[in-house]
Amino acid sequence: MHLLADLPDVIEPVGDLRWREWGRPPEPVARSWWIGMTRHEAGRAGLPVTWVAVDAHGQVAGAVGLGEYDIEERRGEPPWIMGMIVRSDLRGHGIGRRLLARVEDYAAAAHPRVWVANEGPAVGFYQRCGYRVTETLRLANGAQATVLVKPLAHASPLI
Ligand SMILES: CC(C)(COP(=O)(O)OP(=O)(O)OC[C@H]1O[C@@H](n2cnc3c(N)ncnc32)[C@H](O)[C@@H]1OP(=O)(O)O)[C@@H](O)C(=O)NCCC(=O)NCCS
Repeated sequence: MHLLADLPDVIEPVGDLRWREWGRPPEPVARSWWIGMTRHEAGRAGLPVTWVAVDAHGQVAGAVGLGEYDIEERRGEPPWIMGMIVRSDLRGHGIGRRLLARVEDYAAAAHPRVWVANEGPAVGFYQRCGYRVTETLRLANGAQATVLVKPLAHASPLI
């Protein structure tokens, strides 16, 4: 796992993955929007920040972001998982779980829990990874979202 900020050459491929997965209404359809958003979220300290997994050939295998919020409807408590994606030919091999573990480790240093809003069929993935559904809601764009949360174990210093 790498910080996307350390691999600027793969910002565009990560944006492409997201555009191919989600780039149709009610989401933005422009490829440039997805690449621009991925670049914006490639922070190094603080939020938003993104991790990327690469395969043995240096190609993007998956990515996940962490931000202050994801959906306008729930801006109360940070942080939120954003843009979680694994390349379609590599799904089902544990890459998603490992990306989540990395982002959760980072979040645990400053937050007691982490949130995610899912608008697709991946609710079961988050449940397998320890998340609990808190609500479903209709977003302003008409999409239905499921909100999940996971408590984070704080690393306590050894005494
Ligand atoms: C959801 C996604 C990130 C999962 O990545 P992945 O690498 O295939 O997931 P993993 O192989 O790490 O799976 C971890 C566990 O979740 C389960 N799982 C994976 N996808 C699942 C799904 N759609 N429904 C139910 N369970 C699922 C796996 O069986 C595995 O269970 P186990 O380890 O307890 O046996 C990937 O399918 C994807 O990119 N989907 C399209 C984009 C998307 O929906 N992103 C979420 C946006 S909020």
